[in-house]
Formats: sequence, structure tokens, C-alpha cells
Amino acid sequence: MKKIALLSTAFLFSISLLYAQPANIIEVSTNHINYLFTGTPGATLYQNYLGTSLKKESYGNLKDATEAYVGAGMKDVFEPAVRVVHADGNPSLDLRFVKVQTQKTNSNLTETIIYLKDPVYLTEVNLHFKSFYNEDVITTWTEIINKEKSNISLSHYASSMLHFNADKYFLTQFHGDWAREMDMLESELTSGIKIIDSKLGSRANMYQSPVFFLANNRQATETEGEVIAGTLAWTGNFQFLFEIDRTNRLRVLTGINPFASTFSLKPGETFSTPEFIFTYSNSGKGQASRNLQKWARKYAVLDGEESRMTLLNNWEATHVKFDEEKLVELFDGAKQLGVDLFLLDDGWFGNKYPRNDDKTGLGDWQEDRKKLPNGISYLVKEATAKGIKFGIWLEPEMVSPKSELYEKHPDWVLKLPNREEAYQRNQLILDLINPKVQDFVFDLVDKMMIKNPDLAYIKWDNNRFMTNTYSPYLKKDQSRLYIDYTLGFYKIMQRIRAKYPHLPIMLCAGGGGRTDYGALKYFTSFWPSDNTDPVERVFIQWGYSNFFPTNTISSHVTSMGKQSLKFRTDVAMMGKLGYDIKVNGMTPDELSFSRSAVQNYKQLSPIIWFGDLYRLISPYEQDRAVLMYVDSTKNKAVLFSYNLYLRKKQIFEKVKLQGLYPQKEYLIKETNLMPGSLAENPENGKLYTGEYLMNIGLNVSPAKLKPVTSTVLEIISE
Ligand code: DGJ
Repeated sequence: MKKIALLSTAFLFSISLLYAQPANIIEVSTNHINYLFTGTPGATLYQNYLGTSLKKESYGNLKDATEAYVGAGMKDVFEPAVRVVHADGNPSLDLRFVKVQTQKTNSNLTETIIYLKDPVYLTEVNLHFKSFYNEDVITTWTEIINKEKSNISLSHYASSMLHFNADKYFLTQFHGDWAREMDMLESELTSGIKIIDSKLGSRANMYQSPVFFLANNRQATETEGEVIAGTLAWTGNFQFLFEIDRTNRLRVLTGINPFASTFSLKPGETFSTPEFIFTYSNSGKGQASRNLQKWARKYAVLDGEESRMTLLNNWEATHVKFDEEKLVELFDGAKQLGVDLFLLDDGWFGNKYPRNDDKTGLGDWQEDRKKLPNGISYLVKEATAKGIKFGIWLEPEMVSPKSELYEKHPDWVLKLPNREEAYQRNQLILDLINPKVQDFVFDLVDKMMIKNPDLAYIKWDNNRFMTNTYSPYLKKDQSRLYIDYTLGFYKIMQRIRAKYPHLPIMLCAGGGGRTDYGALKYFTSFWPSDNTDPVERVFIQWGYSNFFPTNTISSHVTSMGKQSLKFRTDVAMMGKLGYDIKVNGMTPDELSFSRSAVQNYKQLSPIIWFGDLYRLISPYEQDRAVLMYVDSTKNKAVLFSYNLYLRKKQIFEKVKLQGLYPQKEYLIKETNLMPGSLAENPENGKLYTGEYLMNIGLNVSPAKLKPVTSTVLEIISE
């Protein structure tokens, strides 16, 4: 969400030189995408094209013309992009083109605004586009401005409306539940409406993630087919609506979910929607993912082009049962592993209601004097003395009904009047819309940092979604709740980031409940799932890799699952590596393996985080998953191969690699081996040309494979 504020149109584009587009074709283009409109003053704005770049000479041949951003209540009888009820009760909006302004902000970015207005009513709509040339990403959002003398009511407010005209449409959605996030499901769209949405408010993405692929004409593969990859930068209720009309055209509406959120816009007020981010590829999903990842690292994720710390978390090892002595002992585990940081999880706070289980204490962010008599500062000091950094878990938006905070401020929580309180994990949600609550949350982080300037990391958790939803602060205007809650969250994050711009913070929402680019501009990574069984994680991380860069996908080695430590480690290494394990329960071999894996990861992580990702064999198609990262020079690559649950004597074909130089020679080197074991992969030590590797391939899964085993190969050209 840009912001809801009073903005004058003069301010909107006083920034610098503007130039008008020739004729009436409006181009929103990147290196390989054209998104074309026709705008004639006083007439409807049409979308003519969205797809692979065309030569300008072809523009004249474009016959398709669909109303680009449809106001409800006029001729179009399908789903509208915007619906307004004016002060006099007139429920229609007739949007006509006024002008377009285009600004080349820098060599990689052009910003375009298309101005629309109703000829009769003083409602204006501005369509914004940012085109990022090299990454082939377009972001788009809408401003709706009330210039009337009274309030207008807004019940639909799409960030974008995209139109397609193809034979068939295939939608890939990513859905699931707690511990089963990002399950990939592709289906053909049929006539009528398909909606993917969330009404959960906080932890909004628990069932559906705000991401999708849309393939036109035929299903897209990793390397073939026309595909759009899209996502919404909004940490709250979202909606993607796909409607096929009577002529088999598809419209795709994206934005905040209008559910229970009819918005009253005051005179002079502007409603700005969150950004919809999309890319288009005519060579399959792999390219679309690489576009988004490159763009996200550069423009969307906090410090997206910077490195990340490896860490040891204590959650799965101790839960809330620890004391100072035990923690200091655990620091030794972090030291032995060679990771950068120790992360103290839930359970360190609360005195009147100590946090000894999940029933008490949230909101009372004072160290539990019994568990930690010398406080967090002592732990930070001890960790620093041992040469590691220290990070801490917080769940700032929540409160336990058994807490001093709740006793003091029963009006600070979201809850319906005249109804019983409804709990999830025994907790309630603070009313982030209330500025006093915003101050409380900001102060929590601020005081913690002032007291412990060496605190190096925060895990920001959020373990329930909204039910029983009512804001005591908003009183009668409850239809603002879902939107204002998310804006309240952003306000807090903006204050935190203004003071602590680079403090690494992992966003966690009981697993993958918050995974979106609205949040990621304030966070350095996210926790994809509480399910850390590595076989499950292959699927979950595979899902996220379609839309998010690797250095944002926190992946920890844990004791969940019965697989070998090597398999668990190799799976965590395809993301942002961490540990959440009892280090003192490891055998000497396991510890020595883990130490060298951490070192290995440190050396390989620039390729894993910043390289191009090629998903080679999908676990949805075979009983294995193979993927590789190639660095920008194409001289180094890392390949991960995971054999899942295999049939007896199952045979796998060679895997064709991607992204290498055809003429260069590459050495294949197996890495991440258990101490004393020799490289098992038959390709180890061999030299091949890139051409061979990409056309004939590598035998990464040789005969006599054991189920649930893995191989990591470095592919190096000197
Ligand atoms: C849910 C998180 O996903 C876990 O990693 C852990 O931090 C717990 N919350 C703590 O309550």
C-alpha cells in the first residue's frame, strides 16, 4: 500500500521531466514485455496487448481492445475493477482517459501514470506502472481519488486488471495449511469465476499464498510456454479473481480482498492500493522465477543483495524449557558448528505469568527472572565473548489473556463486543490500528535494542489469524479494520526501519503464514513452515522458490524426520541455512560433517543466494528433485539432487543442466560428504563441456540409489 493520504495531483508528478507518448498508444514495456493500451482523451482506456515484445510496426495490427480498468455500473457486466457509490447514491463509475505521463527514472526503470476520470462525477482513478527493464518485471497499483464534496463509498478497488485472449488458461496456485504450505496445484480455468483469497487478516497466507502462475494456451513447463507469474505486495487479506467471460476472454483482478472492507473515502482523500508485481515469460516458469528473484533481491527485499548469517535456533531443541546455564551451554553448540549467531526462541519472558507453555505471558516482554536472572544483556555478552552473535524471538502483535499487559489494557485487543473471546494457541491479537499499541510494539523493539545494542537478529513471530474480529479503537467504522491493521503493521515497521535500517529480522507466522513482498521490504527472510521434515521441505521450498529469492527462504537442519543428517543438511542448504538441533546429541562424525557443511555453505552461498536458479527435475513429476544455481559469470554452479521415496530398482534418466556456457569445460566435484566417505557420484571428478552438460546431461541419480539420499555437486570452470 503506498499510503492513504491527502495528495494533490500536482504533487503526484512534480518530480521531473515528463513526456507524452506519441499517438494514442501507451507502452508499458521492459526488455522482453509489451503491455499496450490505447488512450484517447475523453474515451474509454483500452488494453490492446500484454505479452512478448513486439516491433512498433506491429502495433497498428493490434485488433484486440478490452476496457482496461472497468468501473462498475456501466456497460460491462462482468467483475469490475472498481466500484464506487457516489454521495448521491449513484453506483456507477464511467472511467475516461485524460492523459498519460511517463518518466524514465533511471536506465532500468520507467514510471507511467495513466489518468482516468468520470465525465460527470468528480472521482478520478490513476493507474500506476513501474517497468523494470532488465528484470522484465512490471509493478502496478491504483489510486482512487475523491474530489467530490462528500464521502464516496468504495467496495471494489483492484490493484490491477489484466486481460488475456487465449484458447485455454492454466492457473497454478500455491495452497495448504499449517505445516503443509505452498502445495502446487495446476488446473485449467473454466467459464465463470475462480477466486484465490485470504480472509485471515493476520497470518494471512496460511491457506492460500498470494502468488500464482497463469499459462496461456497450454500448460507451461520450466522451460517452455507463455506464463505470467504474479504476486501482491500486501501482508493481509488479498484476492486474485480470474473470470472467463462469454467470449472466452480472461480478466485477472488482483488486490486487497474487498471482503468486509467497504471503504468510505472522504473528500480530497486518495485510496492507494498495494502493488501487484508480475513478470511474463515465453520460455516457461523457470525464467519467470528468475526474473522475480533478480528483481526482488534488488528492489523488494530488505538488503536483498547482501549476505545472511548462519544460525543455531533453540526452538526444536528446548522449546520453552531452558535456563541461563543451559543457554550458555548451547552457545558452545553454535560455536562448534561454526555458525554466526545463536537465536533464542520463545519462552524467555514473563514474571507474573511466566512463559512456561503457550498459555501465558505474551505481551510481558521482561526477562523471566527465574530463567534468566541476569537478563538478555548477560546472554548477549556471553555469546559475544564466545565469538558468536545473539538474536531473539518476539511475537509483538499478540497478547496472552493471562498477562499483565492484558490486565492493564483489555481494550488493546481485537475482539467482538457481546461475544466470548476466541483464542487460537491461547492468544489474542493486539489492535495495531490503535496508535498507542503501535507505540507499544515499536518501544518493545526499540528498548530491547537500546539496552542491547549488540543484539544482532530478531525472529518476528505471529501465531494466529483473525477471528472474532473487531477493533475497539475503530468503534463504528469497522470496515477499515482489515486494511488499517495491515497499515498499522507497516507503520510500526517503518519506524523500526528508520531507526534500525539493517537489523536482520526473520518474518515468521507460525510457519508460512506471512510470505509477501509487502512485508519483505522490512524483513530479511521468512520462515516457510514449521514442518522441517526434509522430504516435506523439498516440496515446500520448491514452492517458494517459484516467487522468492533463496536468501529469504530460511531453511534449518532439525531432528524432524528420520533421514540422515546429510540429507537434512543438503535440503537446508538449498535455502538460507540454519540449525535448530541438539548439537550435543550429535556423534563426532555428525558434528564434523556439520562443521564442514557450514564452511562449505559459506563458500557456496554467494552462488546459492545470488545465482540464477534452474529447477531441473520437479518432485511433483518424479520421485526426486534436482535443481541448480549458476553464478552470474556462469563459471560456477551448485547442483542439489534429492532422491525421495524410490521404487525398487527405479531408474532415472540423466539430467540436462541449464545456464552454462556451451563451449566451456566444467569440472564436476561432489561435495558435502560425511567424514570418511568417498564421493559416490559417478560423475565426480569428470570434465565436460557446457554443451554436453546441457544437451546430454549428468548422471546425478545412478543405479543402486537408496531412497531419501542426496548429492551436492559443484560445477566449476577454471
Ligand atoms: C512458531 C514458529 O514457527 C516456531 O519456529 C517457534 O518460534 C514457535 N512459534 C514459538 O512459539
